[in-house]
Amino acid sequence: MNILILGGGGREHALAWAIAQNPKCDQLFCAPGNAGIAEVAQCVDLDPDDGDAVVEFCAAESIGFVVIGPEAPLAAGVSDTLRSARILTFGPSKAAAQLEASKTFTKEICDACGAPTAAYAHFSDAEAAKAYVRQQGAPIVIKADGLAAGKGVVVAMTPGEALSTIDDMFGGAFGAAGAEVVIEEFMEGEEASFFILSDGENILPIGTAQDHKRAYDGDTGPNTGGMGAYSPAPVMTPEVTQKALDEIIKPTIAEMAKRGTPYQGVLYAGFMIKDGQPRLVEYNVRFGDPECQVIMQRLGAQVLDALLATAEGTLDEARINWADDHALTVVYATKGYPGAYEKGSVIRGLGVADDDPFVEVFHAGTAEKNGQTIATGGRVLAVTARGENLQQAHDRAYAAIEKIDWPEGFYRKDIGWRAL
Ligand code: AMP
Ligand code: GLY
Repeated sequence: MNILILGGGGREHALAWAIAQNPKCDQLFCAPGNAGIAEVAQCVDLDPDDGDAVVEFCAAESIGFVVIGPEAPLAAGVSDTLRSARILTFGPSKAAAQLEASKTFTKEICDACGAPTAAYAHFSDAEAAKAYVRQQGAPIVIKADGLAAGKGVVVAMTPGEALSTIDDMFGGAFGAAGAEVVIEEFMEGEEASFFILSDGENILPIGTAQDHKRAYDGDTGPNTGGMGAYSPAPVMTPEVTQKALDEIIKPTIAEMAKRGTPYQGVLYAGFMIKDGQPRLVEYNVRFGDPECQVIMQRLGAQVLDALLATAEGTLDEARINWADDHALTVVYATKGYPGAYEKGSVIRGLGVADDDPFVEVFHAGTAEKNGQTIATGGRVLAVTARGENLQQAHDRAYAAIEKIDWPEGFYRKDIGWRAL
Protein backbone atom coordinates (compact mmCIF):
# COMPACT_ATOMS: atom_id res chain seq x y z
CA MET A 1 0.00 0.00 0.00
CA ASN A 2 1.00 3.62 -0.43
CA ILE A 3 1.46 5.45 2.86
CA LEU A 4 1.54 9.14 3.80
CA ILE A 5 3.16 10.46 6.98
CA LEU A 6 2.20 13.96 8.13
CA GLY A 7 4.97 16.01 9.77
CA GLY A 8 8.60 16.85 9.19
CA GLY A 9 10.61 16.40 12.38
CA GLY A 10 12.88 13.80 13.92
CA ARG A 11 9.84 11.86 15.07
CA GLU A 12 8.54 11.58 11.52
CA HIS A 13 11.97 10.61 10.18
CA ALA A 14 12.08 7.75 12.69
CA LEU A 15 8.54 6.68 11.73
CA ALA A 16 9.42 6.84 8.03
CA TRP A 17 12.64 4.87 8.57
CA ALA A 18 10.76 2.07 10.36
CA ILE A 19 7.71 2.00 8.06
CA ALA A 20 9.79 2.00 4.86
CA GLN A 21 11.42 -1.29 5.95
CA ASN A 22 8.10 -3.13 6.10
CA PRO A 23 7.28 -5.04 2.89
CA LYS A 24 3.64 -3.86 3.14
CA CYS A 25 4.85 -0.36 2.32
CA ASP A 26 4.98 0.32 -1.41
CA GLN A 27 5.41 4.05 -1.92
CA LEU A 28 6.05 6.23 1.11
CA PHE A 29 5.27 9.97 1.13
CA CYS A 30 5.86 12.55 3.84
CA ALA A 31 4.40 16.05 4.10
CA PRO A 32 6.36 18.25 4.43
CA GLY A 33 9.31 16.01 5.42
CA ASN A 34 12.95 17.15 5.56
CA ALA A 35 16.34 16.34 4.02
CA GLY A 36 16.77 13.12 6.01
CA ILE A 37 13.24 11.90 5.36
CA ALA A 38 13.86 12.47 1.63
CA GLU A 39 16.25 9.49 1.75
CA VAL A 40 13.43 7.05 2.64
CA ALA A 41 10.27 8.81 1.40
CA GLN A 42 9.07 11.23 -1.23
CA CYS A 43 8.63 14.62 0.46
CA VAL A 44 5.61 16.62 -0.65
CA ASP A 45 4.82 20.29 -0.29
CA LEU A 46 1.48 19.91 1.45
CA ASP A 47 0.16 21.63 4.59
CA PRO A 48 -0.38 18.82 7.14
CA ASP A 49 -2.99 20.92 9.00
CA ASP A 50 -5.19 21.29 5.90
CA GLY A 51 -7.44 18.22 5.98
CA ASP A 52 -9.11 18.85 2.60
CA ALA A 53 -5.75 19.24 0.86
CA VAL A 54 -4.53 16.00 2.47
CA VAL A 55 -7.67 14.14 1.30
CA GLU A 56 -7.12 15.44 -2.23
CA PHE A 57 -3.49 14.29 -2.20
CA CYS A 58 -4.53 10.84 -0.93
CA ALA A 59 -6.95 10.44 -3.82
CA ALA A 60 -4.35 11.54 -6.38
CA GLU A 61 -1.63 9.17 -5.09
CA SER A 62 -3.85 6.22 -4.06
CA ILE A 63 -2.80 6.51 -0.43
CA GLY A 64 -4.08 3.58 1.63
CA PHE A 65 -2.91 4.70 5.06
CA VAL A 66 -2.11 8.04 6.70
CA VAL A 67 0.04 8.33 9.85
CA ILE A 68 -0.28 11.65 11.68
CA GLY A 69 2.90 12.65 13.56
CA PRO A 70 2.44 16.02 15.32
CA GLU A 71 -0.33 17.35 17.56
CA ALA A 72 -1.33 20.35 15.42
CA PRO A 73 -3.15 18.35 12.67
CA LEU A 74 -4.77 16.19 15.37
CA ALA A 75 -6.04 19.20 17.31
CA ALA A 76 -7.24 20.65 13.96
CA GLY A 77 -9.32 17.51 13.30
CA VAL A 78 -7.42 16.28 10.23
CA SER A 79 -7.97 12.66 11.32
CA ASP A 80 -11.76 13.23 11.33
CA THR A 81 -11.64 14.73 7.84
CA LEU A 82 -9.60 11.76 6.58
CA ARG A 83 -11.87 9.17 8.19
CA SER A 84 -14.96 10.90 6.77
CA ALA A 85 -13.32 10.42 3.37
CA ARG A 86 -12.88 6.71 4.24
CA ILE A 87 -9.10 6.90 4.37
CA LEU A 88 -7.49 4.57 6.92
CA THR A 89 -5.80 6.88 9.44
CA PHE A 90 -3.57 6.53 12.47
CA GLY A 91 -4.28 9.26 15.02
CA PRO A 92 -7.05 10.25 17.43
CA SER A 93 -10.14 12.27 16.55
CA LYS A 94 -10.28 15.93 17.45
CA ALA A 95 -12.54 15.06 20.37
CA ALA A 96 -10.10 12.46 21.71
CA ALA A 97 -7.11 14.75 21.10
CA GLN A 98 -8.52 16.87 23.94
CA LEU A 99 -6.41 14.63 26.17
CA GLU A 100 -3.46 16.77 25.07
CA ALA A 101 -5.18 19.96 23.94
CA SER A 102 -6.88 20.63 27.29
CA LYS A 103 -5.34 19.97 30.69
CA THR A 104 -8.73 20.53 32.35
CA PHE A 105 -10.26 17.83 30.16
CA THR A 106 -7.54 15.35 31.17
CA LYS A 107 -8.07 16.14 34.84
CA GLU A 108 -11.81 15.51 34.46
CA ILE A 109 -11.10 12.14 32.82
CA CYS A 110 -8.75 11.22 35.70
CA ASP A 111 -11.41 12.21 38.23
CA ALA A 112 -14.06 10.20 36.40
CA CYS A 113 -11.98 7.01 36.14
CA GLY A 114 -10.04 7.30 39.41
CA ALA A 115 -6.56 7.58 37.83
CA PRO A 116 -3.97 8.84 40.33
CA THR A 117 -2.72 12.33 39.44
CA ALA A 118 -1.86 15.61 41.21
CA ALA A 119 -4.63 17.43 43.09
CA TYR A 120 -5.67 20.49 41.10
CA ALA A 121 -7.94 23.46 40.72
CA HIS A 122 -9.01 25.26 37.57
CA PHE A 123 -9.29 29.06 37.15
CA SER A 124 -10.41 31.54 34.53
CA ASP A 125 -9.74 34.52 36.80
CA ALA A 126 -6.35 35.74 38.09
CA GLU A 127 -7.52 36.91 41.54
CA ALA A 128 -9.13 33.58 42.40
CA ALA A 129 -6.01 31.75 41.17
CA LYS A 130 -3.78 33.92 43.34
CA ALA A 131 -5.96 33.42 46.40
CA TYR A 132 -5.61 29.65 45.86
CA VAL A 133 -1.79 29.91 45.63
CA ARG A 134 -1.64 32.00 48.83
CA GLN A 135 -3.63 29.30 50.58
CA GLN A 136 -1.64 26.33 49.14
CA GLY A 137 1.91 27.74 49.28
CA ALA A 138 4.87 26.51 47.19
CA PRO A 139 6.27 24.54 45.43
CA ILE A 140 3.24 24.51 43.18
CA VAL A 141 2.70 23.98 39.44
CA ILE A 142 0.96 26.50 37.17
CA LYS A 143 -0.22 25.35 33.73
CA ALA A 144 -1.80 27.17 30.81
CA ASP A 145 -4.85 25.08 29.90
CA GLY A 146 -4.36 24.88 26.12
CA LEU A 147 -1.58 23.88 23.72
CA ALA A 148 1.49 26.04 24.34
CA ALA A 149 4.21 24.13 22.46
CA GLY A 150 5.49 22.55 25.67
CA LYS A 151 6.14 25.93 27.27
CA GLY A 152 2.93 26.39 29.21
CA VAL A 153 4.05 24.75 32.48
CA VAL A 154 5.86 26.53 35.31
CA VAL A 155 7.00 24.67 38.42
CA ALA A 156 7.05 27.59 40.88
CA MET A 157 9.41 27.03 43.80
CA THR A 158 8.20 30.12 45.72
CA PRO A 159 4.77 31.74 46.16
CA GLY A 160 6.17 34.94 44.56
CA GLU A 161 7.12 33.04 41.40
CA ALA A 162 3.68 31.41 41.32
CA LEU A 163 1.88 34.76 41.64
CA SER A 164 3.92 36.43 38.88
CA THR A 165 3.39 33.38 36.61
CA ILE A 166 -0.36 33.75 37.08
CA ASP A 167 -0.10 37.42 36.07
CA ASP A 168 1.94 36.46 33.00
CA MET A 169 -0.49 33.76 31.91
CA PHE A 170 -3.62 35.83 32.30
CA GLY A 171 -1.67 38.75 30.77
CA GLY A 172 -1.42 36.77 27.53
CA ALA A 173 2.17 35.44 27.72
CA PHE A 174 0.96 32.12 26.30
CA GLY A 175 -1.71 33.55 24.02
CA ALA A 176 -5.14 31.95 24.06
CA ALA A 177 -3.69 28.85 25.79
CA GLY A 178 -3.39 30.89 29.01
CA ALA A 179 -6.95 32.20 29.19
CA GLU A 180 -7.63 29.31 31.56
CA VAL A 181 -5.12 28.07 34.09
CA VAL A 182 -4.76 24.81 36.01
CA ILE A 183 -2.92 24.91 39.33
CA GLU A 184 -1.55 21.61 40.54
CA GLU A 185 0.02 20.04 43.55
CA PHE A 186 3.78 19.61 43.03
CA MET A 187 4.60 15.91 42.71
CA GLU A 188 8.00 14.59 43.74
CA GLY A 189 9.60 11.57 42.17
CA GLU A 190 11.25 10.33 38.98
CA GLU A 191 9.64 10.96 35.58
CA ALA A 192 9.16 8.43 32.80
CA SER A 193 7.13 8.16 29.63
CA PHE A 194 5.03 5.23 28.49
CA PHE A 195 3.80 4.71 24.91
CA ILE A 196 0.64 2.70 24.36
CA LEU A 197 -1.28 2.02 21.17
CA SER A 198 -5.07 1.90 21.46
CA ASP A 199 -7.66 1.08 18.81
CA GLY A 200 -10.40 2.55 21.02
CA GLU A 201 -10.91 -0.60 23.02
CA ASN A 202 -7.77 -2.76 23.07
CA ILE A 203 -4.32 -1.57 24.05
CA LEU A 204 -0.76 -2.57 23.16
CA PRO A 205 2.17 -1.10 25.14
CA ILE A 206 5.09 -0.35 22.81
CA GLY A 207 7.79 0.95 25.10
CA THR A 208 8.97 3.24 27.87
CA ALA A 209 11.47 6.10 27.73
CA GLN A 210 13.05 8.88 29.73
CA ASP A 211 14.05 12.21 28.25
CA HIS A 212 16.18 15.21 29.14
CA LYS A 213 14.22 18.44 28.89
CA ARG A 214 16.87 20.95 29.96
CA ALA A 215 19.22 22.45 27.38
CA TYR A 216 22.54 21.90 29.14
CA ASP A 217 24.55 19.23 30.96
CA GLY A 218 23.58 18.36 34.51
CA ASP A 219 19.93 19.07 33.65
CA THR A 220 20.56 22.83 33.80
CA GLY A 221 19.44 25.68 31.54
CA PRO A 222 16.10 26.40 29.95
CA ASN A 223 13.47 23.77 29.11
CA THR A 224 13.48 22.46 25.55
CA GLY A 225 11.41 20.01 23.53
CA GLY A 226 13.93 17.35 24.64
CA MET A 227 17.72 17.09 24.20
CA GLY A 228 17.94 13.32 24.32
CA ALA A 229 16.17 10.18 25.46
CA TYR A 230 16.66 6.51 26.12
CA SER A 231 14.51 3.41 26.15
CA PRO A 232 13.58 1.41 28.15
CA ALA A 233 13.20 3.53 31.30
CA PRO A 234 14.67 1.58 34.25
CA VAL A 235 12.18 3.19 36.67
CA MET A 236 9.33 1.53 34.73
CA THR A 237 9.80 -1.85 36.40
CA PRO A 238 7.30 -4.61 35.55
CA GLU A 239 5.40 -3.78 38.78
CA VAL A 240 5.20 -0.05 38.06
CA THR A 241 4.22 -0.78 34.44
CA GLN A 242 1.40 -3.08 35.54
CA LYS A 243 0.11 -0.49 38.01
CA ALA A 244 0.24 2.18 35.31
CA LEU A 245 -1.77 -0.01 32.96
CA ASP A 246 -4.35 -1.09 35.53
CA GLU A 247 -4.83 2.18 37.41
CA ILE A 248 -4.26 4.82 34.71
CA ILE A 249 -4.16 3.66 31.08
CA LYS A 250 -6.96 1.07 30.91
CA PRO A 251 -9.39 3.22 32.95
CA THR A 252 -8.64 6.22 30.68
CA ILE A 253 -9.26 4.22 27.49
CA ALA A 254 -12.49 2.81 28.96
CA GLU A 255 -13.67 6.28 30.06
CA MET A 256 -13.01 7.74 26.59
CA ALA A 257 -14.99 4.91 24.97
CA LYS A 258 -17.83 5.33 27.47
CA ARG A 259 -18.12 9.01 26.50
CA GLY A 260 -18.49 8.13 22.83
CA THR A 261 -15.05 9.53 21.98
CA PRO A 262 -12.91 6.38 21.79
CA TYR A 263 -9.17 6.95 21.71
CA GLN A 264 -7.45 5.61 18.60
CA GLY A 265 -3.75 6.24 18.16
CA VAL A 266 -0.69 6.36 20.37
CA LEU A 267 -1.19 7.56 23.92
CA TYR A 268 1.97 9.05 25.40
CA ALA A 269 1.63 9.12 29.16
CA GLY A 270 4.03 11.08 31.37
CA PHE A 271 4.30 9.70 34.90
CA MET A 272 5.83 10.79 38.16
CA ILE A 273 6.93 7.69 40.06
CA LYS A 274 7.56 7.63 43.78
CA ASP A 275 7.83 4.58 46.05
CA GLY A 276 6.71 2.34 43.20
CA GLN A 277 3.51 4.32 42.58
CA PRO A 278 3.01 6.02 39.19
CA ARG A 279 0.86 9.16 39.00
CA LEU A 280 -0.14 10.85 35.77
CA VAL A 281 1.62 14.13 34.92
CA GLU A 282 0.11 14.53 31.47
CA TYR A 283 -1.07 12.83 28.31
CA ASN A 284 0.06 13.59 24.78
CA VAL A 285 -1.82 12.24 21.79
CA ARG A 286 1.23 11.61 19.58
CA PHE A 287 4.69 10.13 19.85
CA GLY A 288 7.24 12.12 21.84
CA ASP A 289 10.11 13.73 20.01
CA PRO A 290 12.89 12.52 20.54
CA GLU A 291 11.33 9.56 22.42
CA CYS A 292 9.90 8.25 19.13
CA GLN A 293 13.42 7.91 17.74
CA VAL A 294 14.48 5.42 20.42
CA ILE A 295 11.18 3.52 20.33
CA MET A 296 11.30 3.19 16.52
CA GLN A 297 14.89 2.04 16.58
CA ARG A 298 13.94 -0.74 18.97
CA LEU A 299 10.77 -1.78 17.11
CA GLY A 300 11.84 -1.39 13.48
CA ALA A 301 9.64 -2.55 10.60
CA GLN A 302 7.02 -4.33 12.76
CA VAL A 303 5.73 -0.95 13.90
CA LEU A 304 3.77 -0.59 10.65
CA ASP A 305 1.76 -3.73 11.44
CA ALA A 306 0.98 -2.36 14.90
CA LEU A 307 -0.06 1.06 13.54
CA LEU A 308 -2.29 -0.61 10.95
CA ALA A 309 -3.91 -2.81 13.62
CA THR A 310 -4.54 0.34 15.68
CA ALA A 311 -6.32 2.04 12.80
CA GLU A 312 -8.22 -1.10 11.77
CA GLY A 313 -9.40 -1.91 15.31
CA THR A 314 -7.59 -5.27 15.51
CA LEU A 315 -5.02 -4.55 18.21
CA ASP A 316 -6.23 -7.55 20.21
CA GLU A 317 -4.57 -9.73 17.55
CA ALA A 318 -1.36 -7.68 17.30
CA ARG A 319 1.92 -8.66 18.94
CA ILE A 320 5.27 -6.97 19.42
CA ASN A 321 8.41 -9.09 19.18
CA TRP A 322 10.74 -7.63 21.75
CA ALA A 323 14.49 -7.80 21.42
CA ASP A 324 16.21 -7.46 24.77
CA ASP A 325 17.87 -4.22 23.68
CA HIS A 326 18.31 -0.57 24.57
CA ALA A 327 18.39 2.62 22.54
CA LEU A 328 19.65 6.12 23.25
CA THR A 329 19.39 9.32 21.23
CA VAL A 330 21.38 12.55 21.47
CA VAL A 331 19.87 15.70 19.97
CA TYR A 332 22.20 18.01 18.02
CA ALA A 333 20.72 21.51 18.21
CA THR A 334 21.66 24.91 16.77
CA LYS A 335 23.60 27.06 19.25
CA GLY A 336 21.14 29.48 20.87
CA TYR A 337 18.24 26.99 20.97
CA PRO A 338 15.72 27.13 22.68
CA GLY A 339 16.20 30.90 22.36
CA ALA A 340 17.04 32.76 19.15
CA TYR A 341 19.35 31.01 16.66
CA GLU A 342 20.66 31.36 13.11
CA LYS A 343 19.42 29.17 10.28
CA GLY A 344 21.31 27.95 7.24
CA SER A 345 24.64 26.65 8.62
CA VAL A 346 26.21 23.68 6.79
CA ILE A 347 26.44 20.23 8.40
CA ARG A 348 29.21 17.89 7.22
CA GLY A 349 30.16 14.31 7.97
CA LEU A 350 26.64 12.87 8.07
CA GLY A 351 27.51 9.99 5.72
CA VAL A 352 30.33 8.84 8.02
CA ALA A 353 28.32 9.20 11.24
CA ASP A 354 25.85 6.46 10.43
CA ASP A 355 28.39 3.94 9.06
CA ASP A 356 27.70 1.86 12.16
CA PRO A 357 24.70 -0.44 11.45
CA PHE A 358 23.48 0.19 15.01
CA VAL A 359 23.30 3.96 14.47
CA GLU A 360 20.70 6.07 12.69
CA VAL A 361 21.00 9.83 12.30
CA PHE A 362 17.43 11.10 12.25
CA HIS A 363 16.90 14.58 10.86
CA ALA A 364 14.63 17.02 12.67
CA GLY A 365 15.35 20.37 11.04
CA THR A 366 17.37 20.09 7.84
CA ALA A 367 17.11 20.93 4.16
CA GLU A 368 19.19 20.16 1.09
CA LYS A 369 20.71 23.20 -0.61
CA ASN A 370 23.24 23.11 -3.46
CA GLY A 371 24.12 19.52 -2.57
CA GLN A 372 24.78 20.36 1.08
CA THR A 373 22.75 19.64 4.21
CA ILE A 374 21.84 22.80 6.06
CA ALA A 375 20.27 23.36 9.48
CA THR A 376 16.81 24.89 9.37
CA GLY A 377 15.60 24.55 12.94
CA GLY A 378 16.43 24.54 16.65
CA ARG A 379 16.61 20.81 17.11
CA VAL A 380 18.35 19.61 13.95
CA LEU A 381 19.50 15.98 14.31
CA ALA A 382 18.81 13.08 16.67
CA VAL A 383 21.75 10.66 16.64
CA THR A 384 20.26 7.37 17.76
CA ALA A 385 21.94 4.07 18.60
CA ARG A 386 20.91 0.62 19.70
CA GLY A 387 22.87 -1.73 21.97
CA GLU A 388 22.65 -4.82 24.14
CA ASN A 389 22.67 -2.50 27.12
CA LEU A 390 22.32 1.23 27.69
CA GLN A 391 26.07 1.81 28.01
CA GLN A 392 26.69 0.28 24.59
CA ALA A 393 23.90 2.31 22.99
CA HIS A 394 25.30 5.42 24.68
CA ASP A 395 28.85 4.81 23.48
CA ARG A 396 27.72 4.16 19.90
CA ALA A 397 25.57 7.30 19.79
CA TYR A 398 28.37 9.51 21.11
CA ALA A 399 30.99 7.92 18.82
CA ALA A 400 28.70 8.76 15.88
CA ILE A 401 27.83 12.31 16.89
CA GLU A 402 31.51 13.16 17.30
CA LYS A 403 32.03 12.39 13.60
CA ILE A 404 29.62 15.13 12.57
CA ASP A 405 31.27 18.39 11.63
CA TRP A 406 28.95 21.23 12.57
CA PRO A 407 30.57 24.12 14.48
CA GLU A 408 27.21 25.95 14.80
CA GLY A 409 25.64 23.08 16.75
CA PHE A 410 25.72 21.85 20.35
CA TYR A 411 24.64 18.72 22.18
CA ARG A 412 24.52 17.46 25.75
CA LYS A 413 27.36 15.18 26.82
CA ASP A 414 25.44 13.44 29.60
CA ILE A 415 22.34 11.85 28.04
CA GLY A 416 21.35 8.81 30.09
CA TRP A 417 23.33 9.83 33.20
CA ARG A 418 20.57 8.90 35.60
CA ALA A 419 20.37 5.33 34.30
CA LEU A 420 24.12 4.86 33.77
P1 AMP B 1 3.86 18.89 31.10
O1 AMP B 1 3.97 19.79 29.90
O2 AMP B 1 2.54 18.85 31.75
O3 AMP B 1 4.54 17.56 30.86
O4 AMP B 1 4.86 19.51 32.17
C1 AMP B 1 6.20 19.74 31.86
C2 AMP B 1 7.06 19.28 33.00
O5 AMP B 1 6.71 19.97 34.19
C3 AMP B 1 6.87 17.81 33.36
O6 AMP B 1 7.62 16.97 32.53
C4 AMP B 1 7.33 17.80 34.80
O7 AMP B 1 8.74 17.79 34.87
C5 AMP B 1 6.84 19.12 35.32
N1 AMP B 1 5.55 18.98 35.98
C6 AMP B 1 4.32 19.11 35.44
N2 AMP B 1 3.36 18.90 36.35
C7 AMP B 1 3.98 18.63 37.51
C8 AMP B 1 3.53 18.35 38.85
N3 AMP B 1 2.24 18.34 39.17
N4 AMP B 1 4.48 18.13 39.78
C9 AMP B 1 5.80 18.18 39.48
N5 AMP B 1 6.27 18.46 38.26
C10 AMP B 1 5.39 18.68 37.28
N1 GLY C 1 9.94 15.21 24.23
C1 GLY C 1 8.74 15.72 24.72
C2 GLY C 1 7.60 15.78 23.79
O1 GLY C 1 7.63 15.30 22.67
O2 GLY C 1 6.58 16.33 24.18
